[in-house]
Amino acid sequence: MSKVDIVFLNNKAMEELGVLDMEACIRDVERVYVINQTGDIIAPGKCVMRWGKTTEDENTLGRINAMPGYIGGEYDMAGIKWIGSGPQNYKKGLPRASVTMVLNDPDTKLPVCIADGTAVSTMRTGASGGVAIKLLAKSDASTMLICGAGAQAPTQLAAALLGRPSIKKLYVYDIILANAERFAAATREKYPELEVIPTMDVEAATRDSDIIDCVTLASEPFIKGEWLKKGALVMNMADYEVDYECVRRASKICVDYWDNIKHRMISTVAFMWRDGLIKDSDIHAELGEILNGTKSPRENDDEIIYFNAVGAGILDIAITARCYRDAKAQGKGITLPYWE
Ligand SMILES: NC(=O)c1ccc[n+]([C@@H]2O[C@H](COP(=O)([O-])OP(=O)(O)OC[C@H]3O[C@@H](n4cnc5c(N)ncnc54)[C@H](O)[C@@H]3O)[C@@H](O)[C@H]2O)c1
Repeated sequence: MSKVDIVFLNNKAMEELGVLDMEACIRDVERVYVINQTGDIIAPGKCVMRWGKTTEDENTLGRINAMPGYIGGEYDMAGIKWIGSGPQNYKKGLPRASVTMVLNDPDTKLPVCIADGTAVSTMRTGASGGVAIKLLAKSDASTMLICGAGAQAPTQLAAALLGRPSIKKLYVYDIILANAERFAAATREKYPELEVIPTMDVEAATRDSDIIDCVTLASEPFIKGEWLKKGALVMNMADYEVDYECVRRASKICVDYWDNIKHRMISTVAFMWRDGLIKDSDIHAELGEILNGTKSPRENDDEIIYFNAVGAGILDIAITARCYRDAKAQGKGITLPYWE
């Protein structure tokens, strides 16, 4: 007899448990942002194990990051996200990012679940973008540009369309045109009502877009602030993708987790803080502060807003905890005896 069991959930089991339900993931992400503001979390920060010395090396040689945490509220779960990034994996037909989630009982601290978190990660990043769009995009945003047609792009779009169903035109820019074209073809099939335009002319696409959502591996900015039109929301979801002018032109600088952004030090707004060009007090809000009503969302359709998300393991832990509890209730997954 095992005294301690672990539930193992592979990618199929996670799908059966609703990990691909974007509306549910948006609800989870909103709750995590709000719970974060109450302080009922433990988030010691991301531990980055990178190959090479520079961000450029990291983007070719890869990394494995550990993101431990505890999320309170209705989730009441501890755990860790262990995420590998192998930028050369495509040569072997494997995805760049692979995620293993371990959940731990917050009382005994024992592991209770091991789950594939690869979809959790793309869903929660999409959901974070979706929450930002709900709160910060122009009310009638109709044109969006997605930069980086990789694993994150489909969930960024799915969440964006929930946040602004008014989006009718989508530009897709990628440093590899074939990636943009492949994503465009899949998107046209999934959303036939959407006009989808793969493009290499990032300037023209930016100038025409209400929402510019960057999910690339760029370590040099490719979006210029001078191109942003009135009312634009520029979303810096990864590294150094947009120039300082995008931040300077913004009437609001919004983030998911400001301390994590400064700790990770890879994004535009982090570099500006490091260079003394912005102060802590220049950050208008974390999304949780807008959701709990202490800070304002977008106030008019003219302001330019900059958003940067770095993510946090507690987002993945919350979604995985929901799937784990459903698995227990429904008898899904494989129960492994841990200590016999
Ligand atoms: N903010 C968060 O919470 C969060 C969460 C997950 C991933 N990310 C980041 O999002 C980024 C994308 O992740 P992914 O899983 O989609 O990666 P991916 O490797 O699947 O796709 C990246 C895409 O970006 C393109 N690209 C690379 N450099 C580019 C450039 N300079 N200009 C335009 N396109 C470029 C690639 O050709 C590729 O199609 C990564 O940097 C990742 O670290 C952020």
